[in-house]
Amino acid sequence: MNSRPIGVYDSGVGGLTVVREISGKLPWERVVYFGDTARVPYGEKTAGELLRFSREIITFLIDQGSKFIIAGCNTTSSQVLDDVKSEFDIPIIGVLRPGAYAASRATKTGRIGVIATVGTTRSGAYEKTIREYLPEGQVFSAACPELVPLIEKGDLSSQETVRLLHDYLDPLMEEDIDVLVLGCTHYPYLIDHIRRIVGPHVEIVDPAKETVTVTAAALHELGLQSHEKTGPHAFIVSGDPLRFAAVGRKLLGDNLTPVRQVNLSLESRELSCYNQAT
Ligand code: DGL
Repeated sequence: MNSRPIGVYDSGVGGLTVVREISGKLPWERVVYFGDTARVPYGEKTAGELLRFSREIITFLIDQGSKFIIAGCNTTSSQVLDDVKSEFDIPIIGVLRPGAYAASRATKTGRIGVIATVGTTRSGAYEKTIREYLPEGQVFSAACPELVPLIEKGDLSSQETVRLLHDYLDPLMEEDIDVLVLGCTHYPYLIDHIRRIVGPHVEIVDPAKETVTVTAAALHELGLQSHEKTGPHAFIVSGDPLRFAAVGRKLLGDNLTPVRQVNLSLESRELSCYNQAT
C-alpha cells in the first residue's frame, strides 16, 4: 500500500510545482501526474465543468493506483474541492488552504496580495480562508487571465509577459502588501520576474510548499508513507505530450520522465507515448 503513488493533477504544467516540492521533501514518494492540457486553461471554466473534469481525473488517478490525491490547482481547489472530497473514498487535499495558511503566517502587516485565475479570484476563497487564520487580515486580489496561456506556450520571459506582470502586480504594490501569494500553480514559473517587480521586502508564498508539508503530515497520520522509492514518477497528459515535456523540463529538468498521452473520454485508452530520451 505505502509504495503506491501520490496522484497530482492540474490543467497543465502548473501542478508540476507541487511535484517539484514532493521530489525535494518526500524523496521516497512516487507521483502519478495528470495534466489536462487538452482543456487548459481552467481559469474561466464553470464550477460544473471543473467538477466533471476533477471526477474524471481523480477516477483515472485512482485506477493508476494512487493512495492520496493532491488537486494541484487553485481554480478547482477554490470551487469544487469539498464536492470531490465527499464523493471519493480516498484522501484528497487542495493547494488553496495550505497557501492561505502560509500567507497568514508570513505576513507582519496583515496586508496580503493574491494573484490568481479569474475563477479563483471570483470565488473569494483566498480572502475567506486567510481570514479564518487571520481575522484582521486584508487581502488584495488580482485576476491574471493572460498568464496561464503564455506559460503553457513556454513563454516565460518575453517583453509581453513582463509587461503583463507589471499590469497585474503594480496595483497590488500600491496597496503596500508585505506578502504575495502565487494563487495559481503556474505562476512559480515566473518567479524571477515577479521577484524583480515586488522587490526584496515582499515575501512570496508558493502554496506548493505548505501543501507538501501538509501531505507529509497526512501520509504519516494515515500510515501511508513510502519507505523506499519504487520507480520514477509518471507524467500523463490529455493534450500534446511534446509541448508539455518541453515546458515541464524548464521546472523539473531531468526529473521529468517520459510523458504519455491519454484520452480520458475514451476510457483512459492510451493514445500515444513520447519518450523524452528520443
Ligand atoms: N494552475 C491552475 C491553478 O492553480 C489552473 C490554471 C488555469 O488552467 O487557468 O489555478
